[in-house]
Amino acid sequence: MNSPAHSPITNGLLCAIRSNPMNKGRFITLEGGEGVGKTSALTVLAQTIRDRGIDLVVTREPGGTPLGERLRELLLGSWNVCPEAELMMIFAARVQHVQEVIGPALDAGRWVLSDRFVDASYAYQGGGRLLPKEPIRMLEELAIRDMQPDLTLLLDAPVEVGLQRVNHRGPLDRFESAGLGFLERVRAAYLQRAREFPDRICVVDAGRPPEIVLGDLVTTLNDRFANDFGYCG
Ligand code: TMP
Repeated sequence: MNSPAHSPITNGLLCAIRSNPMNKGRFITLEGGEGVGKTSALTVLAQTIRDRGIDLVVTREPGGTPLGERLRELLLGSWNVCPEAELMMIFAARVQHVQEVIGPALDAGRWVLSDRFVDASYAYQGGGRLLPKEPIRMLEELAIRDMQPDLTLLLDAPVEVGLQRVNHRGPLDRFESAGLGFLERVRAAYLQRAREFPDRICVVDAGRPPEIVLGDLVTTLNDRFANDFGYCG
């Protein structure tokens, strides 16, 4: 059936509307503990979105801006950083990222795929470092206001599975080497976030073979954005 919504003329019109600056882009984040396979997931997700002709910005946290990348180096280094300083450095990087990259891209109708965002602070600084939630919530309010992701894909795997993969990659950074207890708390806090925001956060079992995990991610993306993809796909 060639309904008006799927005719070539309407398709063209809807594509034009989508690239209109008045039409906000979509914001997708990818989250998970250490060694859960975010890098290959990010590549496949980005390719899937771009294959639909969508103008996509791929970025990461901490990082994504010159200031954020400098802060990232400091955060991952092996010196002593107390949890409160860590939290503030991450949010300094985040607010710059939101104002310099994410906000302008979405306002211009572009899509944004970010390797980590605010859920990571609840998981790592809240769960892992045992900081109370309230200061995180206050910084979130200050830094991102209502700029919540449209979809968050949370890759979840047992900590031992992730650590095995990370150990093969070379020297561990400050987070990867923070210990099993820390990483277990990070995982638990991520899963708690998923229970709190079931409509936004989708948990994907990353303990399975990579091709199955990646297939699941693509299916979830296609389902969630069926309307957007349908018009220009
Ligand atoms: P990556 O492993 O995704 O490259 O991220 C670098 C580290 O930064 C990772 O170990 C988790 C940490 N991190 C936090 O602790 N809190 C945050 O809010 C973010 C975005 C990252």
